[in-house]
Amino acid sequence: MTDYRSVIKQEKYTHGHHESVVAAHSARRASETAAFVLPELKSPMRLLDFGCGPGTITIDLAEHLLPNGSVLGIDNSKKVITQARNLAAELGIENIEFEVRNIYETGYSSASFDAVYGHQVLQHLSDPVKALKEAWRVLKSGGICGVREVDWGASAVFPSDQRLCKFFDVYNKVAKRNGGDAFAGRRLKHWFINAGFIDPTITTSTWTFAEQNALKWWGGQWADRILNSEIGEQAIEYGFANQQELKEISQGWLDWLEAEGAFFAFIQVEAIGMKF
Ligand SMILES: C[S@@+](CC[C@H](N)C(=O)[O-])C[C@H]1O[C@@H](n2cnc3c(N)ncnc32)[C@H](O)[C@@H]1O
Repeated sequence: MTDYRSVIKQEKYTHGHHESVVAAHSARRASETAAFVLPELKSPMRLLDFGCGPGTITIDLAEHLLPNGSVLGIDNSKKVITQARNLAAELGIENIEFEVRNIYETGYSSASFDAVYGHQVLQHLSDPVKALKEAWRVLKSGGICGVREVDWGASAVFPSDQRLCKFFDVYNKVAKRNGGDAFAGRRLKHWFINAGFIDPTITTSTWTFAEQNALKWWGGQWADRILNSEIGEQAIEYGFANQQELKEISQGWLDWLEAEGAFFAFIQVEAIGMKF
């Protein structure tokens, strides 16, 4: 049997929490990231958002659950939890709390939440089923778990460019080396079933970047992140790319976003499981 404590020790969060990463995550809103599960979430539910990051989605969920519902956001990074708490305080959101916790072992009582939500977290875990089993444990009977994960292997990019091919290769290798899975989306149903969720509902949506501002944002943030965030440092440390190649990848993204007909899309896989 796997000892999850040793698994956690080997695990590393691929993106880290550089400003460029947290800024990208702060742009996320529940109207898009949780659209698949929002109709199931109603006041007075108590919801756990695991791996909540800087909290913009969590805050939207808290507002969605008014007047009597509430949300608890957890993340194992003290930095993003502090940022999330500050944002909620600034906005005057009162039905929300944030705590530094590990999804594998949250420490909350069994059957203490009506809903659990996770966005782009399981792909970074070396034992996603263990995390989902913890979600199952803290859910009340009849409670629901909604998770959304990207699948980098189901992406379409135009125009094709060797530097972007190198980016995908480096990204996948770093994620794998850190214990994660860049192709998490296609495995989400399998993970839910293995965690005990019978017959989960699976849907997909896409992230599409074709309009000028979207291209600028998507290409620009990767041009920055590959050079300045932890993914670039790890790519060099693990021997998957050198500094010159990272510079070329960065320029590749900048050239791509200016190219005539530039287009990028990939699928997001969504799962909803119920605890019977
Ligand atoms: C890609 S971010 C997603 C943040 C947010 N859910 C969103 O979609 O914007 C993944 C988050 O999961 C957190 N994380 C990774 N492993 C974790 C663990 N074992 N327990 C709790 N949080 C974890 C990271 O610190 C990071 O903030």
